[in-house]
Amino acid sequence: MPQNLSSWTRRGFLKSGAAFAGIAGLGALNAQALGNDTIVLTAKPGSAHLARGIDGAKPTAVWAYNNTVPGPVIRTRVGKKLRVRLINKLDQPTTLHWHGLRIDNAMDGVPDLTQKPVMPGHSFDYQFTPPDAGTYWYHTHNRTWEQLARGLSGLLIVEEKDPLPFDRDLALAIDDWRLGPDGALDEQSFGSLHDWSHQGRLGNWMTVNGASNPQVSVRSGERVRLRLVNTANARIFRLALEGEDFHLLALDGRAIDPIPLKDGRIVLAPAQRADIGFVASRTEGTTSPIQEVTYDKPFTFAGLVYGAALDGARNRILPKLPRINPALDLGDPLRITLDMTGGAMGGMRAMRHMGRMMEVPELIENRRVWAFNGIAGDLDTPLFDTARGRSVIVKILNNTNWPHAMHVHGHHFKIISRNGTPLERVEWRDTVLMQRREQIEIGFAADNPGKWLLHCHMVEHAAAGMMTWFNVKA
Ligand code: C2O
Ligand code: CU
Repeated sequence: MPQNLSSWTRRGFLKSGAAFAGIAGLGALNAQALGNDTIVLTAKPGSAHLARGIDGAKPTAVWAYNNTVPGPVIRTRVGKKLRVRLINKLDQPTTLHWHGLRIDNAMDGVPDLTQKPVMPGHSFDYQFTPPDAGTYWYHTHNRTWEQLARGLSGLLIVEEKDPLPFDRDLALAIDDWRLGPDGALDEQSFGSLHDWSHQGRLGNWMTVNGASNPQVSVRSGERVRLRLVNTANARIFRLALEGEDFHLLALDGRAIDPIPLKDGRIVLAPAQRADIGFVASRTEGTTSPIQEVTYDKPFTFAGLVYGAALDGARNRILPKLPRINPALDLGDPLRITLDMTGGAMGGMRAMRHMGRMMEVPELIENRRVWAFNGIAGDLDTPLFDTARGRSVIVKILNNTNWPHAMHVHGHHFKIISRNGTPLERVEWRDTVLMQRREQIEIGFAADNPGKWLLHCHMVEHAAAGMMTWFNVKA
């Protein structure tokens, strides 16, 4: 029986029938919460036991923050100043981006747009006060298609001002890796134009917090908050939870009106987060699998393991997450259209790049295969300029044969409509999944001055042209 993702991808990977060592729980990772002072994140080559348990598999050479993959979980509190020093010990420039946070533009971490890239041997101090509680993550924003795939990301948890009475808070960074049969990272395929023009770089090895099939402890009677984060380059995870009455509490860090998770299913596009709440109810010794269900055969990639029940009468009501309700006046919005084109399966034609029209062969030479409004990844001119505070509606047309995960920096947006139908549920996100040929309208108040990226979070697509920005004037 092939193991891990090979059992649900077409490409075979490891033929051995290795068993995976269970991991006692993810408490150890969560315990890496950091103190009050400056947090230091050193980006450096290191190694990680991604394929632990496989016969002959050696540790995988990765690039890591503080030699852990993913990087340390940063836990802080809303309204509290956070200081992070990034030290670059890689042999290429890097930056840190705080995905989903509404912070000062100078701290957003986009090379050549909001800061100079941090050169090898240099450091950069990021300082900001998270304005909103929720589940976030941080990641490199330079050569993201390579640096993210090599391991440069971590979770950022911003706790509510008044601690919520959950008994257990679990944060799971879900990732995929492309490994060779000896457990080494497939480096040959970095930059593959085939990946870039199709779905992006998909892995064949799935991890949760850097481990294969970890078993996460819970106890009956506990009110559990499960934070799921997709940190993969390009893979859309379709997850299935079992055995409890799960409720969806938040999307991309923003509380929603809680809804039951239908069949325990949730889809997470790259960079998306979901907070799920449940009151643990199963008996000691049981295991509830967490599965990936994209392919015919469900793949179990983590499990909840039940320890001894809590005793005594318990409160069984899930705490309510505080709502963040941004003002959005749609009276007289600035209307922008974003037409997405390109990619494999018949989407390629001439596009504008570096200020002039290019035919397909020249685009390929320049590694550009996707476009927004006919322009392939050109940061020369913004998609739009707007006065601060103006409401903006962006109509996004996915005129490609591929799904995309569209991300706006520095703002959460409301999804107004999908394929012309207004959305019933109020949903504020920073990353939205669009299926092929879909159309959506998103709205937000452009209230944070600066230069903000808007790109596909399948990071190979962004590198190959699906990237633009807008300017909010002070
Ligand atoms: Cu996770 Cu440009 O972002
Ligand atoms: Cu895309």
